[in-house]
Amino acid sequence: MPEPIAAHSIPTPVAPPPDILRCAYMELVVTDLAASRNFYVDVLGLVVTEEDAEAVYLRSIEEFIHHNLVLRQGPVAAVAAFSYRVRSPEELDRAVAFYTELGCEVRRAPEGFTRGIGDSVRVIDPLGFPYEFFYDVQHVERLAWRYDLHTPGALVRLDHFNQVTPDVPRAVKFMEDLGFRVTEDIQDAEGTTYAAWLRRKPTVHDTAMTGGDGPRMHHVAFATHEKHNIIAICDKLGALRLSDRIERGPGRHGVSNAFYLYLRDPDGHRVEIYTQDYWTGDPDNPVVTWDVHDNQRRDWWGNPVVPSWYTEASPVLDLDGVPQPVVARTDTSEMAVTIGADGFSYTRPEDASRAQDDADVLPSWKQGEYKLGHQL
Ligand SMILES: [Fe+2]
Repeated sequence: MPEPIAAHSIPTPVAPPPDILRCAYMELVVTDLAASRNFYVDVLGLVVTEEDAEAVYLRSIEEFIHHNLVLRQGPVAAVAAFSYRVRSPEELDRAVAFYTELGCEVRRAPEGFTRGIGDSVRVIDPLGFPYEFFYDVQHVERLAWRYDLHTPGALVRLDHFNQVTPDVPRAVKFMEDLGFRVTEDIQDAEGTTYAAWLRRKPTVHDTAMTGGDGPRMHHVAFATHEKHNIIAICDKLGALRLSDRIERGPGRHGVSNAFYLYLRDPDGHRVEIYTQDYWTGDPDNPVVTWDVHDNQRRDWWGNPVVPSWYTEASPVLDLDGVPQPVVARTDTSEMAVTIGADGFSYTRPEDASRAQDDADVLPSWKQGEYKLGHQL
C-alpha cells in the first residue's frame, strides 16, 4: 500500500542553494542498449559523443558539453539522474551543504559519475528524485554550423525534464527554495494544483512538476528550431513504420505555447520534441495560471490527451540503482477531473447552467470525441 503524503512541507535550509544554470542531461537506464541506440541515434538523430558496451553518450546539435543523454544498459528501465549544470565549481560545495542540511543522501564523485564530466554531486532530493549537479565538463564540437550533418528533424538542445510527484505545491515550494521560479501552473477553483512549470534558464522551464503517483519521470524534452522539424520527425516515423512510437501530438500546447510531440522509446520512456516557447528571464515575468477545465490548456487546438499520457511514467532510481518506492497522489487527478464519464470525452463546467455563456458549453458533437470512446 502506498504511504500517505507527509502533511508538512519541506523546511527551507539555512544554507543557500547551488546556483543552477540549466538542465544539462538525463541518465536513462535502458534494457536493450542496441534498440535504444537505434531509436535515439538512427531515428531521432542525436549525436554520439562516445560509447562503449555499457553506455552511449549522446548530445544535441547545438550542445558543447559532452552529453545531454546517457543511455546505460541495465535490468530495469528507469532514470538514474536528472542532471543540472551549476555556475562554478564552488557551487558543488553549496549543493552538498544544502542537501545535507535537509537530511538527504549526498554523494560526491571528484572524477564524476559518467564519462566526460568531472567533480559531481548526486543526491536523493526530499521529493525522492535522483538529482545531480556538476560544473566541470569536457567540451566537444558544437555542431550548429555543421549543416552537412543536420537532418530535417534535428534536435538542437535539451529543453527540459518533467517529474511526476504526488503533492505539487509541496514540490513547488521545495523547488523555489532551490532557486527555481514558477512560470505557469494548472489549478482548479477549489485550489487544487495539478501541475507547475519551473525555470532556471530564461525559458518556460527546466523541469515541471506533474501531479501523480511519484517520484517518477514523466518525460525528457529536446528542442527543434521550427515546427516543421517536428512534422518531419512524424513523417520519418511513419516511413519507418514506427508510428506506434507516437503517443500524443503533434500539437500546440496551451501551457508554454510550445509546439510539441510525445514519443515513447523502446523501453517506454517518454520523450517530448518541443519548440518555440517564450522568454521568461525578466524578474517580474508574469505567472500564467490555467483552469484545469480549460480544454485548451494541454492542447491549444482542444485535442484530447490520451489516458496513457496521464498515467504512465518511468521509475526513478536511488543512488544504489534500486527503484524508488512510489507514493500515491491523494489530491484529485487531472485525468479524473478532465475526462468525461464515458472515460474519454472532455469536461467543461459540469452542466450548462454553470457555464458563464454559450461559449463555455461543450458542443454535442464534441462530447465523446475521443475516438477510442466512440469505438467502445
Ligand atoms: Fe514537456
